[in-house]
Amino acid sequence: MMAHILLRHRDIENIRKLDVYREHGGYEGLKKAVTEMTPAEVIDVVRASGLRGRGGAGFPTGIKWGFIPKNADEVYIVINTDESETGTFKDRELSEKNPHQVIEGALIAAYAVGAKKVYNYFRGEFMDAGYAMEEAVKECYANGLLGENILGTDFSCDFHCHFGGGAYICGEETALIKSLEGERGQPWSKPPFPAIEGLYSKPTVVNNTETLANVPPILVNGAEWYTSMGTQKSAGVKIVCMSGHVEKPGNYEVIMGTTYRELIDMAGGMRGGKAFKALLPSGGSGPVITADALDAPMTYEGLDEYGSVMGSASVIVMDETTDMVWAALKMIHFFKHESCGKCTPCREGTFWMEQVLERIYHGHGTQRDIEVLESVAKQIKGQTLCALGEFAINPVLSTIRHFMDEYKAKVNGAAVLETAVAAAD
Ligand SMILES: Cc1cc2nc3c(=O)[nH]c(=O)nc-3n(C[C@H](O)[C@H](O)[C@H](O)COP(=O)(O)O)c2cc1C
Ligand code: SF4
Repeated sequence: MMAHILLRHRDIENIRKLDVYREHGGYEGLKKAVTEMTPAEVIDVVRASGLRGRGGAGFPTGIKWGFIPKNADEVYIVINTDESETGTFKDRELSEKNPHQVIEGALIAAYAVGAKKVYNYFRGEFMDAGYAMEEAVKECYANGLLGENILGTDFSCDFHCHFGGGAYICGEETALIKSLEGERGQPWSKPPFPAIEGLYSKPTVVNNTETLANVPPILVNGAEWYTSMGTQKSAGVKIVCMSGHVEKPGNYEVIMGTTYRELIDMAGGMRGGKAFKALLPSGGSGPVITADALDAPMTYEGLDEYGSVMGSASVIVMDETTDMVWAALKMIHFFKHESCGKCTPCREGTFWMEQVLERIYHGHGTQRDIEVLESVAKQIKGQTLCALGEFAINPVLSTIRHFMDEYKAKVNGAAVLETAVAAAD
């Protein structure tokens, strides 16, 4: 097993404390950036490292930083620790157990883009993670790592923690910004992109917690060290959240390109020795994959040919006992509940899909209901303000595609019932 680059607390006790973090090379990446490099050079290294956003979409981090206008009067860094995707729990562990690595990454980002303020947005339920981060922030202020003239240089930066109300949609960057401003957390139509008009209408970089935790080791070890791991399009390491029917659910840090079969083995194999049936590689928001994709590499591009995505790598494993119509129903229930309601196709579509799936699951559906599901999904696709609408249809359409026999068995049961009722009449 390789040493952890992100989950370093697994190897080093108390690394959440500043003195221990520094004993193990902590804040050397920041020191190198602010004392030896220009902001443009920092961006170049991050760009060359191939680091891509770990929040799900995989946008290249260095390129994102490069979008920030050079002479802006005020720029913000926002750390996205909303982490409300089904089956995701990596950012919580990082913030709770290795918070200084996240702060250091955010400070390097701030230096690179000329920001003087960092906001860390926590999902409302993540009190422990937020409190751990606040402790780490206090230590930084007391030791010249936050505030004025950091490490004795001209670079100054403040850091604020903010708790959201606990809404999935507030993980979407524009909804998050609105929530941070004290308004209702709903996405806006892009453009304008946050890099040009973000928090308080100023240029803003929104980065995922895990993305930023990768930055300090990249600065210390160099871009080539990072690209030596993984594939050309997916460099480096990734924390995978394993859950569902495995023996040892939890976070696993792996080199990009590890296969889904290896991930299941790492998590102790299938629970109770049951047979594998399917998995959701990106929590509820990505299409389900089946056994034929188990040897695919976990990378941004690895599931293209299977019609799915790595996303934030929250892998929910399902065994042979799982009712796939039930699984689809659970997922659509989540998305209906979390839809912010701003656009009609998502608000109404998720509501109707849940109604129809509920009917099918309880044996009252018909073949026509399966067609209705597909038709509603088509009317959501490409018609919504943010990606939540697209996420919502993925588990439904993919379970219909791979497990039509299960849907048919349920509606055929219903058809038999209808015929019996008609005959009795
Ligand atoms: C509905 C929805 C929920 C999202 N939730 C999160 C989240 O919890 N955490 C996160 O980092 N990104 C989330 N994202 C992605 C963010 O909008 C954004 O792309 C990301 O924070 C950018 O950081 P990165 O480039 O470092 O990945 C979500 C997107 C959507 C559409
Ligand atoms: S797609 Fe859904 S969650 Fe996104 S803005 Fe529209 S209603 Fe809100």
